[in-house]
Amino acid sequence: MKYKSQKVAYWFFALSMLLLVLQITYGFIMGFARMGMDGLHEFIPFNTARAVHTNLLVVWLLSGFMGAAYYIIPEEAQRELVNVKLAYVQLISLALVGVTAIIGFHFNIWEGRKFLEIPRPLDYLVVVNVLLFLGLILTTLFKGKQQTTTALVLSMGLLFAALLYLPGMLPFDSQVTDSFFRWWVVHLWVEGVWELIMGGILSFLLIKLTGVDREVIEKWLYVIVGLTFLSGVLGTGHHYYYIGVNKIWLVVGGIFSALEPLAFLAMALFAVNMYRKGEKKHPNKLALYWTLGAAIVSFVGAGLLGFAHTLPQTNIYTHGTLVTAMHGHLAFWGAYGMIVFAIISYSLPNMTGRKLYDSSRGRMAYWLTNIGMIGMTVAFGVAGVAQVYLERKFKMDFMLVQKEIAVHFLVLVLCATMFATGITLFIIDFYKHGRPSDEALEIEE
Ligand code: HEM
Ligand code: HEM
Ligand SMILES: [Fe+2]
Repeated sequence: MKYKSQKVAYWFFALSMLLLVLQITYGFIMGFARMGMDGLHEFIPFNTARAVHTNLLVVWLLSGFMGAAYYIIPEEAQRELVNVKLAYVQLISLALVGVTAIIGFHFNIWEGRKFLEIPRPLDYLVVVNVLLFLGLILTTLFKGKQQTTTALVLSMGLLFAALLYLPGMLPFDSQVTDSFFRWWVVHLWVEGVWELIMGGILSFLLIKLTGVDREVIEKWLYVIVGLTFLSGVLGTGHHYYYIGVNKIWLVVGGIFSALEPLAFLAMALFAVNMYRKGEKKHPNKLALYWTLGAAIVSFVGAGLLGFAHTLPQTNIYTHGTLVTAMHGHLAFWGAYGMIVFAIISYSLPNMTGRKLYDSSRGRMAYWLTNIGMIGMTVAFGVAGVAQVYLERKFKMDFMLVQKEIAVHFLVLVLCATMFATGITLFIIDFYKHGRPSDEALEIEE
C-alpha cells in the first residue's frame, strides 16, 4: 500500500542531489589546490573549501535520510503523514539553514571544529528544524496502525542522532574537553546511531526487494543493533588515544573499536543472505544493486579501512593524515551515500510511475561512481602512506611533504572525474523520472 504524502520524500531527495553536486564541486577545488593549482585561493582558501565540502556532505545525507523517513514511515505505519504542509516548511527551513551556514563559511563565520563548523547561534535553528521533523515522523508512526521493528529502528536512529547533536553545542574553555565531546557527535553518529538509520532503510528495502519474510529480516536487524552498540559506544575511545585524557582509553578504545567491523560484516552478510534466499522477482534490479552495494562497500570502507588505523600502535602514526581521508571517503560513500542512492532508486519509480530502472544509464551510474570512488580511495591511501613515512617517520617538513605527494592528487582528480560522471548520469535519471504524482501513488506495486 502506498500513500500520497510519501511524495514529500521526492523533494528531500532532490535537495539532497543538489547539495551533493555542490559538495563534489568543492572536492574538485581541493583536489586541484593539492596539485598546486590553487587559483581560487583568494576567494575560497583550502580550509574554507574543506569545511564546505564536509558540511555539505552531512546535510545532503541528512536530507536523504529525512526523505527516506518520509517515504518509509507512512508505508510501515499504514497511514498518511500527519501534516504534509509542515513537512514542506521543514524542507525549506532545512535548505535555508544549510545554505546560510555554507555562505557564512565563505566569510569566515565558522568554528574551527572539524565537522561541527556551524556557528552555535545557527545550531539552535538546526535543533528547531530537527524537532519539527521528528515530531512529524514520530506522531505519524505512533498514530499509525502498526509500529514495525524496521520503522522503530529507523526512528530511534533519527531521534538519537538529534539528541547527540546537543553535546556538540556545549561551550568549553579546554581544548581537550571540547574534543572529548565533539566525538560524541561525530563518532557516535557514524559509528552508532547512523548505523541504525542505515539498518532501518536496509531492512525496508530488503523486505520490498527480496520478498523474504519480514520476521526473518527483522531478526537480523536486532543482531545489527546489538553489535553496533556493543562495539561502537566504547569504540569512541579510538579518538581519545593521545588527546590528553586518561590512558585507559588506549586499551578500551583499541579493543572495542576493533570489534566495530563486526556490525558492518553482519550487515553485509545479512544483505547477501537475504538476496540469496529471496525470490529475485522484483523488477527493480538497480535498487537491489544499490542496496547490496551499500552493505558490501560499507564493510570495506568502514569495517576494513577503519580497522586499518584503529589500533593505538598504528593510529599514533596515521592520525589526521590522508589515511584518514582514504577511510572517510569510502566509509561515507559506501554506508550512507549508497543507502541514500538505494532508497532513491527504489522509491522514484513508485512515486512518479516511470520505471527507468532498465536503462543502461542507471547501471553505468552504479559502476562509474563505485569504481571511481574505489580509485579515489586508493589515491588517498597511497598519498597517505607516503605522507606518514615522510612526515612522521623521517620527520620531513610538513609543507615539503605536501609538495612531495602532490602527484597522487592527479590520480585522485582523474578518478573523481569518473565518480562525478556517474553522479551526473544518476541525476539525469532522477530528472527523467519527472515529478511525483498522486496517480502513481495509487497504483499497487
Ligand atoms: C560508516 C561508518 C564510518 C564512517 C562514515 C567513518 C568516517 C570517518 C571520518 C570522516 C573520520 C575523520 C573524522 C575526523 O577527524 O573528524 C574517521 C576517523 C576514524 N575512523 Fe571512521 N568511519 C566509520 C567507521 C569506522 C569504523 C568501523 C572504524 C574502526 C574499525 C573506524 C575507525 C576510525 C579511526 C581510528 C579514525 C581516526 C583517524 C585519525 O586518527 O585521524 N571508522 N572516520
Ligand atoms: C568526487 C569528488 C571529490 C573530491 C575530488 C574530493 C576530494 C577531497 C579532498 C581533497 C579532501 C581533503 C583531504 C585533505 O585534507 O587534504 C576531502 C575531504 C573529505 N571528503 Fe571528499 N572529495 C570528493 C567527493 C567526496 C564524497 C562523494 C564524499 C562522501 C561520500 C567525500 C567525503 C569527504 C570527507 C568525509 C572528507 C574529510 C576527510 C577527513 O576528515 O580526513 N568526498 N575530499
Ligand atoms: Fe570513530
